[in-house]
Amino acid sequence: MDAREMKIKAAAAALAHVEDGMRLGIGTGSTAEEFVRLLAEKVASGFKVEGVPTSERTARLCVELGVPLKSLDELPALDLTIDGADEVDPSLRLIKGGGGALLREKIVAAASERMIVIADESKLVETLGAYALPIEVNPFGLVSTRIAIEKVAARLGLSGDLSLRQSGDGEFTTDGGHHIIDASFGRIPDAEALSSELNSIPGVVEHGLFINMAALAIIAGPAGARTLQANR
Ligand code: A5P
Repeated sequence: MDAREMKIKAAAAALAHVEDGMRLGIGTGSTAEEFVRLLAEKVASGFKVEGVPTSERTARLCVELGVPLKSLDELPALDLTIDGADEVDPSLRLIKGGGGALLREKIVAAASERMIVIADESKLVETLGAYALPIEVNPFGLVSTRIAIEKVAARLGLSGDLSLRQSGDGEFTTDGGHHIIDASFGRIPDAEALSSELNSIPGVVEHGLFINMAALAIIAGPAGARTLQANR
């Protein structure tokens, strides 16, 4: 089974949690896109949902495939969000933001009664941090913000490259007009402490640590999809 087949397996298992009439947060990334494709097939056969997309990219795919969309302002309380992740640990703490959509993803997940993460088994880790942590920053005062992130990291015993994400013709810009610093810490033993320290830096808009947000993770491997439950 290749990676795409595993993503489809996880997406299909997540679809079983979606009930007719639900207000749904719809994630970003290649796994979430497999979910959108399967959801669109159900919608075409008469299933009713209203989706709030977590990125312009996801919105375009939903429109193309006929999944009905609303803005978060129109639907401020959602039943369920289904989204991918870059890393998932055994307590269902996540690193997200590889696709650059972490801010809207976190806002939408926080507005949802439940969040289900879908991923192939390569995303499962014992300790978060091998994947560079995306930190969304305001373009104003970027150098100061970067120094503040370095200080916070040093206080927590973390070090590693802080790299300003690039796209074809310059700095990558998020849907919200911000930039992303990818922090290669290698290992983040205390994700809670790093999360609250990063939140205290004014130039940090949001970061990709999702803690106490996912209720379930559906992880697909060659033998099929299994469900992990948050132990809290
Ligand atoms: C988007 O910003 C991310 O949070 C994605 O959810 C994450 O990068 C997972 O993407 P894939 O499903 O493409 O691996």
